[in-house]
Amino acid sequence: SRDRLDAGHAKPARLAVIGHPVAHSSSPRMHQPALDAAGIDARYIKVDVPVGQVAEAFARMRALGFIGCNITVPHKFDALAACSVVHPDARALGAVNTVRFDADGIHGFNTDGPGFVRAIVDDFEFPLSTFSVVIAGAGGGAGQAIATQCAMQGVPTLVLVNRTLEKLGPLVERLRALGPTTEVVALSFDDPELENLCQRCDLIVNTTSVGLKAGDGSPLPPDYLRPGLCVYDTIYQPAITPLLAAAEAAGCRTANGISLLLHQGVLAFQHWFPQTDPLPFMREALLHSAG
Ligand code: ATR
Repeated sequence: SRDRLDAGHAKPARLAVIGHPVAHSSSPRMHQPALDAAGIDARYIKVDVPVGQVAEAFARMRALGFIGCNITVPHKFDALAACSVVHPDARALGAVNTVRFDADGIHGFNTDGPGFVRAIVDDFEFPLSTFSVVIAGAGGGAGQAIATQCAMQGVPTLVLVNRTLEKLGPLVERLRALGPTTEVVALSFDDPELENLCQRCDLIVNTTSVGLKAGDGSPLPPDYLRPGLCVYDTIYQPAITPLLAAAEAAGCRTANGISLLLHQGVLAFQHWFPQTDPLPFMREALLHSAG
């Protein structure tokens, strides 16, 4: 209603998501209801920041009295460089998705990895550390973050699949250093070993963009899937991708990326407002505005 809109706009902009592009971001529709429910006098806005201008954007927001911001594609790496204090999760993942502007400087966090850990236990009721994992698209930004988190959790086996195999080299080295108990295998989608590795794993995660666009197929052949296997697609729009449809048909347990969106958001919010529990409000907001 008009009254509600006016009330919203009367609040000062003090939090944001920055990205390029940023118009599609779901963060405001999740964070604003949580702010309102907690009685915090702040508006959460979207800011389109051109590539290479993250440090300037931080300086401007800080000068305006912002509490912090979220960072999305393609700025998560530049954001780390622009922080004065980089917290351990962000350091390990090599990227920052959340900052807090404190008196002593700009604090950088990454809630994508920890958010994924929570999403998996939420959706599949077992801790990530117990799964042998195949990551489709491990060379992309999201894939690297999830692969890193899997190694930190000490999963028994981690299979990294990427169309461009060369992109996986440096990642494999870093993962072996992080999680010495994890067996790491890297291969491309056309490798004859992939079918066998998928048959032996417990969890397949899609982090490729395949499934986002109408007309896309599944990034993995449906006959690699079997009953009882857990399949997580980081895509949440559409809610059921061709991979998830194939997984359901094959009798797999399935979940989409809405839980990752939710949990990374909850953890970001708690970096700004430590004594709060935004989860129920964010969950409700996503349920009612998804699609
Ligand atoms: P981001 O870094 O933002 O996560 P990205 O660089 O577009 O996104 O890459 C996402 C992932 O989707 C990559 O692993 C990419 O594979 P390449 O490294 O070979 O480019 C993968 N991807 C995109 N389109 C694909 C396709 N048609 N088939 C297989 N993988 C694809």
